[in-house]
Amino acid sequence: MSGADTRWHVYADPTEVARKTAERILTAADRAIAARGVFRIVLAGGRTPEQAYRLLRDADTDWSRWQVYFGDERCLHPQDPQRNSVMAARAWLDPMPIPQDHIHPIPAERGAKAAAQAYAQVIAQALPFDLVLLGMGEDGHTASLFPGQAHTESESVHAVHDAPKPPPERVSLSRRALGDAREILILVTGEGKRDALRRWRAGEPLPVASIRGPSGVDVLLDQATRS
Ligand code: 6PG
Repeated sequence: MSGADTRWHVYADPTEVARKTAERILTAADRAIAARGVFRIVLAGGRTPEQAYRLLRDADTDWSRWQVYFGDERCLHPQDPQRNSVMAARAWLDPMPIPQDHIHPIPAERGAKAAAQAYAQVIAQALPFDLVLLGMGEDGHTASLFPGQAHTESESVHAVHDAPKPPPERVSLSRRALGDAREILILVTGEGKRDALRRWRAGEPLPVASIRGPSGVDVLLDQATRS
């Protein structure tokens, strides 16, 4: 096991994981808005988060208090459907009454290095985040932190080159910026994740295992991930 601070929650299927995620996002928003008047959330790419985002369209919350950030982005044209910002916009954000300047896409179209530098300035005002959402890839990557890639630890945002999952050029928040969050939810669904999950639970130093929040990490799984 990778540590007492990692809490594993198993649900029937991806739909249940998405429902629970949407519920937890809204609870975190209520708590943050009551305590500090603002809710700062970091979004993940991936299929299960997308399902959760769709469920948030009907939520009853004060959208004007939300500030939305992204954990990683692919260096593609701003309207490219492969971008996490475009997925989130289509699944959820576009019709919501969130002020446009409260949504903070990573300017990845500028190239990994310039975008990482620019986004470091953007998130400097936002740390620690209230809630960070993450997925996990089949190789144990999370956000765009991939196995075997080294980054400068002092950076809050990394330029990623040669990513093994296309496209190779990406931008990713660092382990530290993600891990400082008040709450961290990692969503893992589907049988393709079994092996990485087993390795994570066995204590292998996968990128996903390196994210450790001050209040621990909650991993939301579906049955298919269990062998
Ligand atoms: C990306 C994602 C990535 C994703 C995982 C899980 O841009 O590639 O941010 O880190 O979250 O690969 O994705 P799935 O939920 O679709 O398997």
